[in-house]
Amino acid sequence: MPDSHRKTVTIINNETGQREEFPIIGGTRGPAGVDIRQLYQKMGMFTYDPGFKSTASCSSEITFIDGEKGVLQYRGYPVEQLAEHTCYLEVCYLLLNGELPTETEFGHFHNMITTHSMVNEGLKDFIRGFRYDAHPMAILVGVVGALSSFYHDSLDIHDLRHQEISAHRLIAKMPTIAAAAYKYSLGQPIVYPSNDLCYSENFLTMMFSSPTQRYEVNPLHARVLDLLFLLHADHEQNASTSTVRLAGSSLANPFAAVSAGIGALWGPAHGGANEAVVRMLEEIGDVKRIPEFVARAKDRNDPFRLNGFGHRVYKNYDPRARLVRDAAHDLLEQSKTSDPIFEIALRLEEIALEDDYFVSKKLYPNVDFYSGIIYREIGIPLNMFTVLFAVARTVGWIAQWREMIQDPERVIGRPRQVYKGPEHKDYTPTEERGFHANCQRVCPGRPTAKWSRS
Ligand code: SDX
Repeated sequence: MPDSHRKTVTIINNETGQREEFPIIGGTRGPAGVDIRQLYQKMGMFTYDPGFKSTASCSSEITFIDGEKGVLQYRGYPVEQLAEHTCYLEVCYLLLNGELPTETEFGHFHNMITTHSMVNEGLKDFIRGFRYDAHPMAILVGVVGALSSFYHDSLDIHDLRHQEISAHRLIAKMPTIAAAAYKYSLGQPIVYPSNDLCYSENFLTMMFSSPTQRYEVNPLHARVLDLLFLLHADHEQNASTSTVRLAGSSLANPFAAVSAGIGALWGPAHGGANEAVVRMLEEIGDVKRIPEFVARAKDRNDPFRLNGFGHRVYKNYDPRARLVRDAAHDLLEQSKTSDPIFEIALRLEEIALEDDYFVSKKLYPNVDFYSGIIYREIGIPLNMFTVLFAVARTVGWIAQWREMIQDPERVIGRPRQVYKGPEHKDYTPTEERGFHANCQRVCPGRPTAKWSRS
């Protein structure tokens, strides 16, 4: 068969002349992959790709991103259509099951999530073990990992029913745990979920009601929060989802894997960016100071980066950012409030997108750039912004975890390295390392002697 028809790539080692062919794996959309699983066996070398910029860690049917075109699809549906026509829980069903639900399917799913929103009373003691001023993400990492200790009846990760009930429990309980972390920081009693509220209404009620004051949910707040949850639901193999897959590949339970993902999301380069964006906009404080911060972001000697700008995959406008910006604008307009940092954000975007540095590096606002404006308007405190991202992304994490567990090609993730340390060293006795001659060391497996200083 002529070379042009073989779906392979040939790698030639120009030093040795060795040539090896590797198959190309194509998908339904987007770049194909070169299957290099035999590279080390055939050529005795590894690929080198810190940050995995050119590496596909898996094949997946869940989410598709075209960074050049600014496309995001959940199970083939454009996120713009889902944002316009569906709600977060319907998207949860779609991400988990691969298709939009019928009325009966959605009714059953909605009921499963609603009736699993309470947490075991014992979890309150976990939360009380944290300092009152613990960051709620620290509480989320700890409590979600501890959830597995309550569900010994469903931890067989190969059992399809256990996979499903764990997914329902995580999606249902994350808002309850998140709100409980917030209430704990206020020294207020935890508010129980209510079965007659929808997902975002329930979360807002658990966040803001108290024994002395019933909280009336603003329908506009509930709707825009549901949109934010929907837009953050999944995003292909980002850092936190890759963490969940890697942790899950060791066959750890899904609660432990999701807890690892929460930790990865916390960083300001990832999910922590929404909190960092608002802190940055507050620090800018006035549109007149924008040029100063833009100059700093462009200065390679200054570690400051424009939070909420840039993306590993999107080299065009993040479609979610546009939807969040428009929702923020509508919310402020309908609430007849103005938020000075929204004005700063709009002006900052305008200035940056006219600046060659950002244009040439294809740095556009990402999903985190405007989301904080909405959270502020709703009354969500700054240190809860990334927590809401984690609540929303739980369905993506658990859908990707389940796809990985069910993948016939699944193996434990174990990347290699290019070693650059010392080639070889022999042990240097303590006497040659300046230890006092009479100094006795106590090491396990060595003749014990009292540690004594002369
Ligand atoms: C999320 O992966 C996902 O899908 C994540 C996410 C999801 O839904 O899960 O979309 C959510 O995490 C969005 C990203 C949120 N993070 C931020 O907003 C933090 C600010 N952004 C940057 O830290 C950065 O853009 C990253 C981390 C998002 C992406 O980094 P990359 O792809 O590794 O890009 P890079 O660091 O190689 O940057 C390329 C160039 C560099 O300049 P040079 O070295 O080529 O001269 O662009 C510069 C960078 O210095 N650059 C920026 C910048 N982002 C990149 N310069 C100033 N400000 C920025 N924000």
